[in-house]
Amino acid sequence: MTERHNNIIWHHATVTQVRRETMNGHKAVNLWFTGLSGSGKSTLAHAVEERLHQIGCRTFVFDGDNVRHGLCSDLGFSEKDRSENIRRIGEMVNLFLQSGIIALTAFISPLKQDREKVRTIIGTDNFLEIHCACSLEICEHRDVKGLYKKARAGIIKNYTGISSPYEAPANPDLCLDTGLLPLQTCVEKVISCLYKKQILSSLLEKKALPD
Ligand code: ADX
Repeated sequence: MTERHNNIIWHHATVTQVRRETMNGHKAVNLWFTGLSGSGKSTLAHAVEERLHQIGCRTFVFDGDNVRHGLCSDLGFSEKDRSENIRRIGEMVNLFLQSGIIALTAFISPLKQDREKVRTIIGTDNFLEIHCACSLEICEHRDVKGLYKKARAGIIKNYTGISSPYEAPANPDLCLDTGLLPLQTCVEKVISCLYKKQILSSLLEKKALPD
């Protein structure tokens, strides 16, 4: 242990994660969406959140572009900076899970070793890796933010899929072809995975909230 950690002692809450989960009627879990820029991570995360909210779950979406506006605004897109970006997010989400929420995270997170580090921080039971497996061709064709065009022109350096690697997960909890499948089909697949893994219970539907 380094010196700066010597005199720091974890404070345990009396309102524990388990008590919050019991009150919420669902487990606290991190749905980690990974994929190329433009693969539909944020769109899918928000659509899943909408569905979870409607059945009374406590949720929050953490989005790559948003986090880079504040917490990670000092970081760029070198391998080192991306690793630090993902590490900070992993630690932040880990704290948020103690509040009992379902945290949906939408980050490219291109490197396996960085995603594995997050799995270690969060704990494998509470971490679900969802690969938004949209092909580079489709992402580039969509080019929603016009960044692929700039990357091809060399205006943006280290662009994932063009001049920086993306390592697809070898064994994700879910792999969705977000380039071809309709959004609602992807949402249903995520939701049924959550029931199958008993993160959601069928009791939840009964306390569904109005829109
Ligand atoms: S990550 O690689 O560190 O996980 P993150 O998800 O936070 O990336 O941010 C990705 C977003 O940053 C993209 O959706 C895109 O809008 C923007 N961006 C800007 N420059 C780059 C780049 N060089 N590579 C990838 N995305 C970039």
